[in-house]
Amino acid sequence: MTGGPVRVLVADDKENMRKLLAKILADGYAVEEAEDGARALSLVATRPYDVVVTDIRMPGADGFELLGAVKARAPDTEVVMMTGYATIADAVRAMRMGAFDYLEKPFDPDAALAVVARAAEHKRLADAARRDDASGGEPSSFHNLVGRSARMRAVYGLLDKAAGLDITVLLLGETGTGKELAARAIHYHSARRERRFVPVNCGALPAELVESELFGHARGAFTGAAAAKAGLFEEAQGGSLFLDEVGELPLPAQVKLNRALQEREIRRVGDTQPLKVDVRVIAATHRDLREEVRAGRFREDLFYRLHVFPVTLPPLRERAEDVPLLAQHFLAKHARALRRELAGGFDPEALRRLAGYPWPGNVRELENAVERAVAVSSGDRVRVADLPAEVAGAAPAGPEPADLAKLPYKEAVAEARDRTSREYLVALLAEFGGNVTRAAERAGMERESLHRLLRRYGLRSDDFK
Ligand SMILES: Nc1ncnc2c1ncn2[C@@H]1O[C@H](COP(=O)(O)OP(=O)(O)OP(=O)(O)O)[C@@H](O)[C@H]1O
Ligand SMILES: [Mg+2]
Repeated sequence: MTGGPVRVLVADDKENMRKLLAKILADGYAVEEAEDGARALSLVATRPYDVVVTDIRMPGADGFELLGAVKARAPDTEVVMMTGYATIADAVRAMRMGAFDYLEKPFDPDAALAVVARAAEHKRLADAARRDDASGGEPSSFHNLVGRSARMRAVYGLLDKAAGLDITVLLLGETGTGKELAARAIHYHSARRERRFVPVNCGALPAELVESELFGHARGAFTGAAAAKAGLFEEAQGGSLFLDEVGELPLPAQVKLNRALQEREIRRVGDTQPLKVDVRVIAATHRDLREEVRAGRFREDLFYRLHVFPVTLPPLRERAEDVPLLAQHFLAKHARALRRELAGGFDPEALRRLAGYPWPGNVRELENAVERAVAVSSGDRVRVADLPAEVAGAAPAGPEPADLAKLPYKEAVAEARDRTSREYLVALLAEFGGNVTRAAERAGMERESLHRLLRRYGLRSDDFK
């Protein structure tokens, strides 16, 4: 299936049965008919179908022969068997041969429609999975970063570009959004990957030691400096230096850092001799650096030197569609680490609560919540009761009025509607374990309309299975 209507072949020797099915499937399906087994065999040999609905007893070739021919030629095409004399033996044989399901005659039109819809959905997913395999698909991760929302895919594109450019990169984003992972991703995708990645948390260094840590010091430069020592810049020679929490650097150190970036050379504290350094700097901060500049806490010249290639990691609440994928990723990771067998994954309601929680601590908080849930769970799946209380009790998050108040009325209303729609869709998919047909029934809309909406919000039903 490549867009367009779902192609269905109906094979039955009774004309009234073919007409009935054609009528049931008239909306959204392109139906062709075969009046006997021989005709059906020649059709499936020459044309692609998404779903074949076939009678078992027909002249020419029976339904089993047709099923065998379809599975040999196009294994992804789903076959639904119909019979007026359903026996367990026939049904078992059909399922063994790869039939998707069977319908007992006489059938309820709604039941027939539901079965064909499920078969078509199954086929669509198989097609999508194959396309992903063939083309690399839409990436669901980059280095160790997981997520396939449009926002994260845009980030992957920027990180990849930054990796190839050997320029200073500034990573922005709230706590726990993956800035350090992003810094490593850049380094390990760059030409410097064979050399060192040296991380330093600028906020954790005592103010009086920052400069000697970064740039090293000469022997006797200050009390206690018994021997000369190389700094982190020199340690990172040829590689990358990750200046985490760069917004916390004291002003004097900012002056030296700015000079180092400009001149591509450093001076050890207490030394006059400059040293050439070949280091790519990747900086990160959760602060609003412009605000820090305005407040006089961050030097404007350094700000502009760092702000060459800014990349913002979006908060998790703005890409709620990544929550199920991340949650499953962490569940697998911690189940392995804790030697827990959790074949059942998440209970759908647990997944729904996870997706509805606003995650102020972002991915770090999600990982901690999942790790804890894995540890306290008993049985083969994680349930609501295993989640931290604030997550278990989470009502679906609503738009934040404070954010909305920054927008003109019309944009604010559109934004609020978008957020509510996305949260509704996430809850709906979680409720039905990713079953689009059932979700569409509950929503009271056509499957195709629901699919359109899911595409628009970048949601994938697979992530909720
Ligand atoms: N997209 C992601 N995929 C997988 N794991 C992630 C992702 N983002 C963050 N994590 C995990 O969440 C935790 C926090 O990530 P990281 O340390 O990179 O965040 P940070 O932005 O540097 O946060 P802070 O500002 O608090 O230092 C880490 O354990 C990291 O492995
Ligand atoms: Mg960090």
